[in-house]
Amino acid sequence: MNINELEEWYLKHHRKLVFRESREPYKIWVSEIMLQQTQVDTVLPFFERFIKMYPTVFELANTYEDSLHKAVEGLGYYRRFRYMLKAAKVIVETYDGVFPSTYKEVLALPGIGKYTAGAIMSIAYNMPYSALDGNVIRVLSRYLNVSDDMRIEKHRKALDAINQKYIEESTPYIYTQAMMELGALVCRPKNPKCEKCPLNEYCQAFEQGIQDQLPMLSKLKEKKELNYITLIMRNHDDIYVYKREEELLKGMYLYPQFESESIYQVISDLEEKGTSIEVIDQLKTYKHVFTHLVWHMSVYEVRIISGGNHLPYERIKFSDIDRIPMAIAHRKIKI
Ligand code: ADE
Repeated sequence: MNINELEEWYLKHHRKLVFRESREPYKIWVSEIMLQQTQVDTVLPFFERFIKMYPTVFELANTYEDSLHKAVEGLGYYRRFRYMLKAAKVIVETYDGVFPSTYKEVLALPGIGKYTAGAIMSIAYNMPYSALDGNVIRVLSRYLNVSDDMRIEKHRKALDAINQKYIEESTPYIYTQAMMELGALVCRPKNPKCEKCPLNEYCQAFEQGIQDQLPMLSKLKEKKELNYITLIMRNHDDIYVYKREEELLKGMYLYPQFESESIYQVISDLEEKGTSIEVIDQLKTYKHVFTHLVWHMSVYEVRIISGGNHLPYERIKFSDIDRIPMAIAHRKIKI
């Protein structure tokens, strides 16, 4: 690979992003966790605020899960931040707050897999460890004209081995970021700007004009669709919420909701359990798309007539609603 051209291209054309202002391992770790499954533009303001709230691993290790969830509300995939909190505690307790500097130790931290370990080792420590993300998969599939299905792990592993070989011939902290930046700015999923690409001279997909067909990614299963009746349940100046325990959105707060298409059904089910409500208003229907799931939510504003103490929810002041970490699926409901 013409690594020199790639690295020169990066040094000249990369975006000046806040998470590139420092190569402190702690900050690289935070940014790489945030950037998983999340667009750069979305991450930027969260990263800045996060580093102000938790400037070092010590502040992070001392925070509560609810506060951390609130700090990242809107980024989704909240499990990554619970692992981050666990890892922060390990770094403080086992490493006196100094981020570990060997691949083995970094990989052993909660929530850090091969990709994140490779990104931290290469970007923060300039050590040659592959970090294969979606961008790098796209660049390499095209550069080498690999038409294997990249949803299959063994095919990603094969590319990872090639990426490892390349990074060993490069300046790792530049190489890793250059490949990601090239994937984001030039070797884009649609309409790649091949004429501007530092790798175009030897890019096999470009040579054959098939860059738009790669990488090969087999179709995902259709998303399951669920219908909910979602209740803005008022009791004087209070409102009811609950903390999710299921894996999806674990630890985030939601309004009470019921898998049903009928408000009458929900009213009678609640009645049976000892709570009587009346509908004040029917609000909009909202839709929220998750990775594997779609929620359709018919939202009703209701008032407790009696039996509010039988509800398995937390009662909070309505004016405190913005202080709790809430799933965006419900945060976006306009009351
Ligand atoms: N996506 C994941 N890590 C990234 C990085 N360091 N720069 C740009 N995009 C990324």
